Amino acid sequence: MCGIVGYIGQSAVQEILLSGLEKLEYRGYDSAGIFVVDKIGNSHLFREKGRIAELREVVDFDVPAQMGIGHTRWATHGVPSIANAHPHQSQDGRFTLVHNGVIENFQELKATYLPDVALTGNTDTEIVVNVIAHFAKNDALTTKEIFREALKVVKGSYAFALIDSKDPEILWAAKNKSPLLIGVGTDFHVVASDAMATIQLTDQYVEIHDGEMVQLTNTDFAIETVSGSVINRAPYKATVDAADLEKGMYPYYMLKEIDEQPAVLRRIVQQYQNSAGELEIPNELKQAVEAADRIHIVACGTSYHAGWLGKHFLEKMAGIPTEVHIASEFSYNPPLIKGNPLFVFISQSGETADSRQVLVKVKEWGYPTLTITNVQGSTLSREANHTLLLHAGPEIAVASTKAYTAQISVLAILAATLSEEKDFALIHELGIVANAMDSIIAEKEQIAELAEAYLTDKRSAFYIGRGLDYYVSMEAALKLKEISYVQTEGFAAGELKHGTIALIEEGTPVIALITQAENASHTRGNIEEVRSRGAHTCVCVMEGLQQESDQLVLPAVHPMLTPLLAVVPTQLLAYYATLQRGFDVDKPRNLAKSVTVE
Ligand code: F6R
Repeated sequence: MCGIVGYIGQSAVQEILLSGLEKLEYRGYDSAGIFVVDKIGNSHLFREKGRIAELREVVDFDVPAQMGIGHTRWATHGVPSIANAHPHQSQDGRFTLVHNGVIENFQELKATYLPDVALTGNTDTEIVVNVIAHFAKNDALTTKEIFREALKVVKGSYAFALIDSKDPEILWAAKNKSPLLIGVGTDFHVVASDAMATIQLTDQYVEIHDGEMVQLTNTDFAIETVSGSVINRAPYKATVDAADLEKGMYPYYMLKEIDEQPAVLRRIVQQYQNSAGELEIPNELKQAVEAADRIHIVACGTSYHAGWLGKHFLEKMAGIPTEVHIASEFSYNPPLIKGNPLFVFISQSGETADSRQVLVKVKEWGYPTLTITNVQGSTLSREANHTLLLHAGPEIAVASTKAYTAQISVLAILAATLSEEKDFALIHELGIVANAMDSIIAEKEQIAELAEAYLTDKRSAFYIGRGLDYYVSMEAALKLKEISYVQTEGFAAGELKHGTIALIEEGTPVIALITQAENASHTRGNIEEVRSRGAHTCVCVMEGLQQESDQLVLPAVHPMLTPLLAVVPTQLLAYYATLQRGFDVDKPRNLAKSVTVE
């Protein structure tokens, strides 16, 4: 994980780096640092444990610097501390490096090149910057040659930005498996893990591919492969809207993103509608899916939960047998493949390392691939044969909300475009869902009260449901536990009595989701079982299936699309429970938004 940003140009660099890092904080926020070089070549390093706001307190804004690099960290090697915070410097002070990724052969590098170097921290990055300094002992080498020699021996994932204090007119960068872009301005250049970091400076970006190194000055940039081939690549216009990156009137991004869901749903329908007003996916993709006799969905976390609904749609609407795989488990239990499979990767960020390693393997096997992602040009999108975009706009809160409902919607559209069944008017039904979402969002206070009554002072909780409601229960539980730290399980309602019901005590909150007529009475039976053992039960039910004692009634929508709606109150419950418990909704402990380590 981690986010990096670098700038070389004419403006004061401290604020550029800090505001860039603030935009990248979703990638990690346990420590941060910047390194700036002033006009006469003096350098200044500022590092702090904690968030960018804490780093701001220690940065000297009076230093007249116009070049620098910065980093926000999610610890992989070494605890969060000032010593382990980036940027890291070589012991001779000549080189300064920021890094996003994981160096696999760090021990070997240390033993081979740095046997006598006493390191100050515990990071793989400190080893790399000292390996760079090791190659600099050969006076005949230029900075480019030194950097290249180091890149040749480093194995693993990295996005690097490097400054050689002997040549502070040039900023260096390199990429392998971790995201990195060049931003192009009239009299400046930037590098960043994500265009979001610097979109207020420029909307012109150039991709850097794996195995490439980059040289940036105020006015030029040059890309070469590590083996020395020159690359010419034109900039593209990044479509991130700077206003989308702001919280506006909202106290937290998560609340803004929950509220945006009806608009996202409507936007998705527009994006996938052709001029005749019908839902459409690109023809090549349609042919690829029609040629498949089995679909394998691969994803992690919330995206994995959306995958189960994808399975439901693809099997029920399109009649294609579909399996769902946790990406990080795929290698240990690969599916038995026969015939013509299609692999579908679902990833909000498009950068998740666990999913990417499966994509790499599947490509080696030669099977067709589709990525469903929110981020155009992301690694998983670039590397798959086909992409469907979520059009959800940037999702900044660590807990995914609008991307989940966007994933479900796009999966429904994919399945519907392949369906022979023409009676199901998906566009119309999604419109009804969007309106129903609006009405739930308008009644937030009621959900805030439920959060207070059921969750605020609890240590553990359950979500239960059957069928589609079970899939939503898994997502609802993840949302609640990851931000409020209430230990929550999402359970198949009927499975509880086979063991887990032993955990029900006096007052244990059990939130039941009931949106399907076919299983409503069975789930009600399970509610009675836990209630009679002391559970504090809360029923969230679809209109038409309610009983007088139910706590929350959702407007009726098509039975196939109830997950899109039922998840919204669970997102709000998680949000309010977290607020009431006094935690940071957008930045839960130990997490990062984009998980680029396996
Ligand atoms: C939870 C959450 C995570 C992500 C998971 C996969 O709220 O956001 O579980 O869903 O890390 O991330 P993507 O979708 O970017 O591959």
